[in-house]
Amino acid sequence: MSRSPVQMLVDEASQTFKPGGPFAYHYARGKLGYDTIFHEMLRRGLLPQRGQYLDLGCGQGSLFAWLLAAGRLYDRGQWPEGWAPPPRPTTLRGVELMQKDVDRAEQAFGAQHPVVRVEQGDMNAVDFGQPDAILILDALHYFSHEQQREVLARIRRALPPGGVFLTRVGDASAGLRYRICNGVDRLVTYSRGHRLPRLYCRTLKDWVGELERLDFAVETEDMSGRKPFANVMLVCRVPH
Ligand SMILES: C[S@@+](CC[C@H](N)C(=O)[O-])C[C@H]1O[C@@H](n2cnc3c(N)ncnc32)[C@H](O)[C@@H]1O
Repeated sequence: MSRSPVQMLVDEASQTFKPGGPFAYHYARGKLGYDTIFHEMLRRGLLPQRGQYLDLGCGQGSLFAWLLAAGRLYDRGQWPEGWAPPPRPTTLRGVELMQKDVDRAEQAFGAQHPVVRVEQGDMNAVDFGQPDAILILDALHYFSHEQQREVLARIRRALPPGGVFLTRVGDASAGLRYRICNGVDRLVTYSRGHRLPRLYCRTLKDWVGELERLDFAVETEDMSGRKPFANVMLVCRVPH
């Protein structure tokens, strides 16, 4: 049976992690194959066509492999029907707390990649520079509410008019679905070599209220798919 363009995209992006060994490869395959946010951001063309991207808490850089693979597939005419043309970022900078993930990113992209740079650092401390798009996928809830507020305000200041902040958060008002989501998150984090983390949760209303107070135009989309989770994508745009 022939592969669909989406399967080709997952295959192409995951190949990037082959040099890092089976864990890196299968982690990427699982993430990119089943996590709807990666599909949705491309399908709907949510990110700026060009410019500099910053991924905070980027892990091994699965997002970067996904975006680069998207460009290659589009050029080969193997693009999913109905999806927006993929973005062509000029730089992809990642900041990641865990050195092990940074090492896997380096094995995947090499130390001298023309577009990708993944550095070890804490998003609470690093300078964000002047990117056109900032992403935080499932990492904001690892630090305190006060630190979250500070990071969000710094993101807003770093982005230009028309800039995009794309993130995913859990909705603490979602009852059992949220507790399941949190339990899975704690287990996955533990299995990746962290301590069992304390998670700093907020309701969706609280997240959106704070982002709107920062003068972002916020769009929300449920990202739980068919899983009993309470994950919500927030697409936050800086007005022109
Ligand atoms: C659930 S993982 C998601 C990784 C990646 N965003 C993805 O979608 O594949 C969360 C990541 O955020 C990182 N992280 C947590 N707190 C961080 C911080 N303060 N600064 C940078 N990275 C952080 C963790 O080490 C972990 O790799």
